[in-house]
Amino acid sequence: MKIIRLFPGIVLLIALTFSYSCKEQTTTRIPHLEKRGIATQLIADGKPFLVLGGELHNSSSSSREYMKEFWPQLRASGMNAVLAAVEWSLVEPEEGRFNFTVVDNLLEDARTHDLKLILLWFGSWKNGQSHYIPGWMKSDYRRFPRVKAENGKSLEILTPHSSENLDADVKAYTALMRHLREVDSGFRTVIMMQVENEVGILGSPRDHSDIANAAFNSPVPMELINYLAGNRENLLTETIGVWSASGFKTSGTWEEVFGKGDKCDEIFTGWYYARYLNAITRAGKSEYPLPMFVNAWLVQQSDLRPGDYPSGGPQAHMLDIWRAGAPDVDLYCPDIYRPVFSELCSLYTRNNNTLFIPEARAGEQGAGQFFYAIGRHNSIGYSPFGFESRTTDIDNDPMTRAYLLASGMTPLILDAQKNGTINSVLLSEDLNPSEEVTLGDYKFLFEISGGRRAQAGPSAGYGMIISLTPDEFITYGSNIRISFSPATPGPAIAGISRVDEGKYENGKWTQGRRLNGDDIMLDYDLAKKALENKTGTGLRFGTANQLLQRVKLYRYE
Ligand code: DGJ
Repeated sequence: MKIIRLFPGIVLLIALTFSYSCKEQTTTRIPHLEKRGIATQLIADGKPFLVLGGELHNSSSSSREYMKEFWPQLRASGMNAVLAAVEWSLVEPEEGRFNFTVVDNLLEDARTHDLKLILLWFGSWKNGQSHYIPGWMKSDYRRFPRVKAENGKSLEILTPHSSENLDADVKAYTALMRHLREVDSGFRTVIMMQVENEVGILGSPRDHSDIANAAFNSPVPMELINYLAGNRENLLTETIGVWSASGFKTSGTWEEVFGKGDKCDEIFTGWYYARYLNAITRAGKSEYPLPMFVNAWLVQQSDLRPGDYPSGGPQAHMLDIWRAGAPDVDLYCPDIYRPVFSELCSLYTRNNNTLFIPEARAGEQGAGQFFYAIGRHNSIGYSPFGFESRTTDIDNDPMTRAYLLASGMTPLILDAQKNGTINSVLLSEDLNPSEEVTLGDYKFLFEISGGRRAQAGPSAGYGMIISLTPDEFITYGSNIRISFSPATPGPAIAGISRVDEGKYENGKWTQGRRLNGDDIMLDYDLAKKALENKTGTGLRFGTANQLLQRVKLYRYE
């Protein structure tokens, strides 16, 4: 009798517990990459996800107390994902004894602030070097051997040729991924993993230790030869350039196949790093198969030879070797601090690589680069480095404005990526002060320009355009003007039917002013423009604000 009376209470308790845990937890599929239309997109929480990211400084995630003040500000800055380091020395302080407190704190704090995480595994290497390995590994340098430079001196870099080094890293990374499966598969807070950080040998094109020399004097592994021979038609020009010197030899030692010198040493090094990182990636995915990427320290203008930059890393010219050696890695990502941003994006979208930029600049430059990467190259996201210290004045931060604007319209951006109805330009006075793109039924000429009353002209600008229909467009930009001309047969001149200012909130257009007269771009040389079949009216964006312009075009003659 007692039991029967208690029963409804127990049922209610179970129901409440269940509904609470349903709110907290999710049953969505693990985050993954998916081809949607012409774009490859990251799917998280069951839908396409555009990473509006920011990477923390290297040591920030090691202290929960230190991070406390930054979390609210990160969320307020329009970000939806934080890139945070998980360092090996903290999670395996003693061999085989794991402590994931740092990870659990990150998970809890990210969830509290409604942010996703992309974790960076600072394992065997961080910026080429091995500063993040546990102390017990550092001191046991005979068991965990280092790279030796050309002069025979040891560098503070674990050699990628040692199976002891690899086994230890595989064990630790696997334990991390197992832990994430156990504690996060109900939440899906972590959406991607970066395996190591900017790997490669700094200081020497290749390792000259005994194990490395033995590998160097052995035949090139057949896996690499088979990949190169099997993909010969699609290899990068850089690979062809090196391999052609031997007449495309398909057997022999590294020097016999790739010729003597730095290029050969670099390919040899790249192959062994790629194999090492692939083994870690594969083992990690066997526990919890999140998308996994590697990032590259790029070749800088002053670099003369591999080793000045990390030799063997996934630099743009090495991507064939990495594809051959690390097929389980999903994305090869550039950390772009150089001004030739658009050129580097192009290099990293060759051979179907999907673009993601885990490190870059913030500020006005970063805002332009972000819109360019997602609009021109369908990047799955962007992430300025050291974001927590760059957003103290969030009301005046251009990157924050860009993220807030984009976060209201991500469904539109992601659909436009999928359908090929988005494009962007990145203009600079010295590289390309103007550029024309075609979308829908029109051509759009973007030119650098200041505000209507600007005195000195700006030296850079950017613009993004999304077509809603063949004659209606969402436009945005900073320091640019946009004029139009027809791209399809029909009446020869393009004009503005109407322009509205506004923004998207939760994916819905919110109308602002109707713009006309002084508030659009007016070229009073109208008659002359009409004679050239060009519009005399267009759009103008001064220094970026948070509003878009939605324009409907028409044609006449
Ligand atoms: C590139 C590295 O990957 C980051 O961890 C950080 O050290 C930055 N450089 C600093 O600019």
